[in-house]
Amino acid sequence: MKILLLGSGGREHALAWKIAQSPKVEKLYIAPGNAGTTVTGENVDIKPTDFPAIAAFALKEAVDMIVVGPEDPLVKGIYDYFHDRSELKHIAVIGPSAQGAQLEGSKEFAKGFMMRHGIPTARYKSITSDNIEEGLAFLETLEAPYVLKADGLCAGKGVLILPTLDEAQKELKEMLGGMFGAASATVVIEEFLSGIECSVFVLTDGEHYKVLPVAKDYKRIGEGDRGLNTGGMGSVTPVPFADEAFMEKVRTRIIEPTINGLKEEGITYKGFIFLGLIRVKGEPMVIEYNVRMGDPETESVMLRIQSDLVELMEGVAEGRLNEKELKEDPRAAACVILVSGGYPEAYEKGFPISGLEEASATDSIIFHAGTAMKDGQIVTNGGRVIAVCSYGATREEALEQSYKAADRIRFDKKYFRRDIGFDLNLKKNER
Ligand code: AMP
Ligand code: GLY
Repeated sequence: MKILLLGSGGREHALAWKIAQSPKVEKLYIAPGNAGTTVTGENVDIKPTDFPAIAAFALKEAVDMIVVGPEDPLVKGIYDYFHDRSELKHIAVIGPSAQGAQLEGSKEFAKGFMMRHGIPTARYKSITSDNIEEGLAFLETLEAPYVLKADGLCAGKGVLILPTLDEAQKELKEMLGGMFGAASATVVIEEFLSGIECSVFVLTDGEHYKVLPVAKDYKRIGEGDRGLNTGGMGSVTPVPFADEAFMEKVRTRIIEPTINGLKEEGITYKGFIFLGLIRVKGEPMVIEYNVRMGDPETESVMLRIQSDLVELMEGVAEGRLNEKELKEDPRAAACVILVSGGYPEAYEKGFPISGLEEASATDSIIFHAGTAMKDGQIVTNGGRVIAVCSYGATREEALEQSYKAADRIRFDKKYFRRDIGFDLNLKKNER
């Protein structure tokens, strides 16, 4: 089989690593990829949203399957682009249709969908400049802190959590006034939920589903989950509180109603569903849907999938996922992200990276995120630079191993959090 993987981050290097292990794969292309993905396949200089160029390449190289890493191409309709054209229809696209991708592309759509199908989520109201008064009044009925979400995609920046009513009312006006452009022309106001979060990944063919190993990510730049939000500073799997009793609730109250809801509404969905969940008094609730794998969760989750991912994705494409097996590695896995100093604010690029071989020699698996090749040297090329991933008998062992390897990798202004997984060791009342 020939596979084309779209994207260029740590998530895509991890997916490429896993896909390349499949005996079914004859050739793997990554568009555009990064300095790390060249080891697992061939990078192709095409943007993931340039559908005509992707189609031309896929036809020329007789690609059988396209795996979509990021949300952008999905929200822009890559599934439909291939499915609706007779000359492209035979190429399987792993991902939802544009309509299905609205679960991530529009917070308002996602909330409405959850309401229609009785899926537990925070109380909310959807507001535009036409009913702003209703929004201001709804905020008064809620307790602090206040959650405001831009309806559309904002590269992870569209959620504001505000400590006072005054600030919330002021920011609501600013969001509707164009703070995030068209993405915040509609704002979802939500009740704040207090609890611990986890990421549940589901692979579905629209009828059947498999639940991948549950992970937790760490989004803030500072230790103790303080400071600015980032794309993600690390991840661990498994998550101790996502035990069998909790997961049974997740399956019956969230996953099955989601898949049945999509079916009832005639929405085609053949791909990954990412459930951002929060546990509130022992009960799972949905914070958000994403229509792709998470980053940096993928980097640790891929380590824990023993089965052939390509075989599973073939099952998705053919509607026979029920005939496939998903076997989990019993070990724990952890991922620590090395970032450029200054990130998520201004940072410099182009610093040479050394010690990658020494780090790989430690049993850790090194995925590249923001790297590039310059004059034969691997250099930093983004905020999140490297994902250092390891196995361990326990989460602590996996983390210890990753930290050992992280210390061996060197580049100017390297920074990483040394407390990934910290909250899983805390007692419930300390979280
Ligand atoms: P989202 O982009 O929807 O994932 O939101 C980003 C982050 O904001 C989430 O991962 C949560 O930590 C937090 N968040 C979003 N919605 C709520 C909510 N209703 N209650 C508490 N925290 C929330
Ligand atoms: N780790 C969260 C995300 O990918 O959005």
